[in-house]
Amino acid sequence: MIVTIDGPAGAGKSSIARQAADSLGFDFLDTGAMYRAVALAGIRADIDWDDAAAMLKLAQRSEIAFRNRRVWLNRDDVTELIRTPSVTDVIRHVADLPSIRALLTEKQRRYARGHDIVTEGRDQGSEVFPEAECKIFLTASAEERARRRQQQLGEVGRYVPLDTVLAQQNRRDEEDQSRPVGRLRPAADAVILNSDGLSLEEVLLEVLRIVHHRRAELAAAGA
Ligand code: DC
Repeated sequence: MIVTIDGPAGAGKSSIARQAADSLGFDFLDTGAMYRAVALAGIRADIDWDDAAAMLKLAQRSEIAFRNRRVWLNRDDVTELIRTPSVTDVIRHVADLPSIRALLTEKQRRYARGHDIVTEGRDQGSEVFPEAECKIFLTASAEERARRRQQQLGEVGRYVPLDTVLAQQNRRDEEDQSRPVGRLRPAADAVILNSDGLSLEEVLLEVLRIVHHRRAELAAAGA
């Protein structure tokens, strides 16, 4: 069974998707980490971001792997590095390129083949796995997402004013929604889950309820 969880930055997708996969005993795929790893490869190679052919070649040569809950790029553990602002700042150069999206889409489909999987990103239900049995679009208001992000940053000792977090988030939302290919949007058959006012535990329970409900429907239909 394929469960897709898409949604904007800061909706809590990563932790929810990972915990849902653990509870279900499914594999977990963080597709944002793949885009981030290619962006890091670009920084390391001092790539010309406007050179689409060079970008594609670099992405083709980059070996991205998930092992022991860590992200590896060409055998380096880059789990923390790919989350740094310098990577986030250049990610659009990678995520906007249709050729790179096609390459990563293919990798994602290969990864999911023959597995029960929870896959998380922006385009998983709409583009990568249109046939997925269960699609969830996890969202929250911009203010709530920014408050949560501010809190996370505070927990690692970084105080960032709320309006700064909100401005950065609005920019990412704009980038994610205006991408010519693979833009952020719910698939027509996705369940929209708004997490405003819900705790992480409550969102997780709701996600699991949606998955179990969908499983029961499929079983009843003899699928
Ligand atoms: O989920 P994240 O913040 O780690 O994702 C990083 C960026 O990668 C995000 O701003 C957009 C891009 N992305 C994408 O275009 N398609 C995906 N399936 C996942 C992420």
